[in-house]
Amino acid sequence: MINIALDGPSGSGKSTIAKILAKKLNIAYLDTGAMYRTIGLGAIKYGADTKSEAEVIAVLPKIDFKVGFEADGQHVYLDGEDVSGLIRTPQADMASSNVSRYEAVRTYLVEMQRNIARNVDMVLDGRDIGTVVLPDANYKFFLTASPEIRAKRRFDERKDKNPDLKFEDVLREVNERDYQDSNRAISPLRQAEDAVLIDTGDMTIDEVAQTIISFIKEK
Ligand code: DC
Repeated sequence: MINIALDGPSGSGKSTIAKILAKKLNIAYLDTGAMYRTIGLGAIKYGADTKSEAEVIAVLPKIDFKVGFEADGQHVYLDGEDVSGLIRTPQADMASSNVSRYEAVRTYLVEMQRNIARNVDMVLDGRDIGTVVLPDANYKFFLTASPEIRAKRRFDERKDKNPDLKFEDVLREVNERDYQDSNRAISPLRQAEDAVLIDTGDMTIDEVAQTIISFIKEK
């Protein structure tokens, strides 16, 4: 059994690296951020203001949320609709960060994540995998990079689809989300004491993947 926890702020390279690791090590990959994103989208769909805990909790039972694994990887479904593409918008960025502050949402998703990872060789990426979801994971890594570098990555990722996108706006949003994710009361973003810290700022994707794999082989 192998569980790899990959945590870090948005844009630190977690999901890109997790996909590579999953392929190279021939294990499954769970993107836990996609789960918070789908709940954020569901809360909006049912008319809740995602900044209001009471409103989100009130609509939570209505949200029919499923995770599925297809040949091309993980998909998320809201009321039976595949929303894997729809969750990648600035609106879903903030909605997911908002709903991830609420205990009811975290309890629900953490339990689901533990059930999915049980008895499956898997890499999971998120904010609290090494600290809360799987504190006994075999390997833990915490990826980071400066806010400017992370905002630049997100900007490059999204500018084709959104030609009006401004770098300053992306940077502001990255800082806002970092602050909110790191300062929330429950399971804030933080490095587990036994996690290996990797600053991906000056590294290529391949270098990051190789660094992690070398640790896994060493053990
Ligand atoms: O990794 P991401 O950007 O897709 O995550 C979206 C939001 O979900 C992020 O702002 C914080 C939250 N999140 C969380 O609180 N815990 C996780 N394990 C994963 C994501």
